[in-house]
Amino acid sequence: MKNKEFENLVDTSDEWIVQRTGIRERHIAAEGETTADLGEKAARAAMADAGVTVDDIDLIILATSTPNNTFPATAVEIQERLGMRHGAAFDTQAVCSGFIFALTNADQYIRTGFAKRILVIGAETFSRILDWSDRTTCVLFGDGAGAVVVEAAEGEGAISDRGILTAHLRSDGSHKSKLYVDGGPSSTQTVGYLRMEGKEVFRHATGMIADVIEAAYAATGLSSEDIDWFVPHQANKRIIDASAKKLGISPEKVVLTVDRHGNTSAASIPLALCEAVSDGRIKRGDLVLLEAMGGGFTWGSVLLRW
Ligand code: UT7
Repeated sequence: MKNKEFENLVDTSDEWIVQRTGIRERHIAAEGETTADLGEKAARAAMADAGVTVDDIDLIILATSTPNNTFPATAVEIQERLGMRHGAAFDTQAVCSGFIFALTNADQYIRTGFAKRILVIGAETFSRILDWSDRTTCVLFGDGAGAVVVEAAEGEGAISDRGILTAHLRSDGSHKSKLYVDGGPSSTQTVGYLRMEGKEVFRHATGMIADVIEAAYAATGLSSEDIDWFVPHQANKRIIDASAKKLGISPEKVVLTVDRHGNTSAASIPLALCEAVSDGRIKRGDLVLLEAMGGGFTWGSVLLRW
C-alpha cells in the first residue's frame, strides 16, 4: 500500500509521510490472511535457508503483539502447521522490541543447554489493530514476518566466535500509556486499537537505543568502528539516522527497509536481516548490531557475529 492511497482515507500526503518517517509503502495482509500465515511462511523459508527440517528444531519462539487469538499462542498454531509434534512453542510479547526479546530468550536457552536449535519468528498484522481514521498512526505501520534459526555451537568464548556475543534488554512501564492498544481480554473484552503519542516516543527513542548499544559495547570492548552492519528496528528513518549519528555508525553500514515496509513491529528486524543477507551485504563472520525500541517502553540490543 503506497502513501498516495492514504490520501483518500485521511488528511495526509505522500510528502508529509516521506519527510517525517521515510516510509513510501508498506504491505497489508490479504483479507483473511493472519499472523500465523505470515509466520509460517517465514519459518519455512528460514529452515530451508539454514538447511534444517522441523525435526531438527526443539523450540519455537514467536514474537508478536498481533496473535491470531488471545490464546492459544500463535506459536503453537505455527508448530502444528509445520507438523512439529515434539518440543515446545510459545509467544513472547514486547511489541516493536519483540524480536530482540525473543532472540535473547533463544540465546539464553542455547547457553544453558536447554535447547539446541530454536526457530525465532517475528510476525505481525498491525493493519488489524490500526484506527484507519487516525492519520497520526495508520500511515506508520505494516504487516510482515521474518525468522531465523539459532543453533548451538562450541566457541572459544571470544569476540571472534560466531553467534550472539551479547544481548541487553530493558523495559520501563512508567511509559506504558505512550504507545498501547486501548483494548484487551481482561480490561475491555475487545481487541482495541493502537494509540500512540508519537512525539513522546520519538523523544525517548534515540536515548534508549544508545543506552543498550553502549551496554553491548561495554560488554564486549567493541565500538561502532568494529560494526559491519547496523540492523535497527524500522520505525522511522529519522530515528534510525539520529541513532546512527549519535553512535558514530557510518550511514553505509545501516540496513534500511522502512521505506518499503513501514513499521512492522517485531517483524522489522528479521525482515531487514533477510534482505541484507539475501542481497549479499551481510556475510559469514560479519559483526551485526541489532536494536529495537517500542511500546512499554521496551528496548534492547543484540550484538552478533553472522
Ligand atoms: O516502533 C516504535 C514505535 N513508534 C515510533 O518509533 C514512532 C515515533 N514517532 C515518530 O516517528 C514521529 O513522532 C511521527 C512520525 C509519529 C510524527 O512525526 P513528528 O515530526 O513528531 O510530527 P508531530 O507528531 O509533531 O506532528 C506534526 C504535525 C501535527 O500538526 P500540527 O499540530 O503541527 O498542526 C500533526 O497533527 O503533523 C500532523 N500530522 C500529520 N499530517 C499529515 C500527524 N500525522 C500526520 C499525517 N499527515 N499522517
